[in-house]
Amino acid sequence: MQKGQLLYKGKAKSVYASEDPDLLVMEYRDDTSAFNGQKLEQLERKGRVNNTFNTFIMTRLAAAGIASHFVRQLSERESLVKRLEMIPVECVVRNFAAGSLCKRLGIAEGQELLPPTYELFLKNDALGDPMINESHAMSFGWATPVQLARMRELSLRVNDVLKEFFAAGDMLLVDFKLEFGLHHGEILLGDEFSPDGCRLWDRQTRKKLDKDRFRQGLGGVVEAYEEVGQRLGIQFD
Ligand code: TMP
Repeated sequence: MQKGQLLYKGKAKSVYASEDPDLLVMEYRDDTSAFNGQKLEQLERKGRVNNTFNTFIMTRLAAAGIASHFVRQLSERESLVKRLEMIPVECVVRNFAAGSLCKRLGIAEGQELLPPTYELFLKNDALGDPMINESHAMSFGWATPVQLARMRELSLRVNDVLKEFFAAGDMLLVDFKLEFGLHHGEILLGDEFSPDGCRLWDRQTRKKLDKDRFRQGLGGVVEAYEEVGQRLGIQFD
């Protein structure tokens, strides 16, 4: 599959046209950003580690009946995906308190959340991705009630599947962010699932194995992503 024109350059991925107007090529770069792009670094191997990681997760989700835009991995850094019309809303599920939830509500990191929380954020860099609710999304036309209900249902199903999956590697799935889009009217999971967009802790020591290592300057970022992969049986070569 030939890569065509660059259509969109995000903070960590670039999206290109393909020979098929219905399919796009997603390229994972080594760029790593945090704090809405204020902290930026190139981390060697991250692009290919995240591409392979995402292939593994999306394949597992498909096997569990959760459809995504993922079609197949094309190369170390590239994957073929279905073209989506993105819904500009980020869906965040949390099993343990961390990150912005702790800041917003003054809660200590690590408190277990039962049931898990489900939050929405507007995908808007200029505004720093503000938290919104379903009423905002409906009133401003970002998503319909039916789409919102489906996004919530799918997000919680992803949580059920992946919580178990990471537990088998002795890890806690602390939280994660998903994005959805429309493909010929059907809601599909889009973007990527990798340690860039979730939090994972070692179950016993609670050692951070995700992008918080970069945000907090803990070092060993890609090494931690590779450790997560190894615990799940993913081969990065
Ligand atoms: P938060 O604690 O900063 O709200 O993030 C919750 C989870 O969602 C965390 O795993 C990081 C992920 N996330 C992103 O990857 N990108 C985003 O723009 C947001 C808001 C969250």
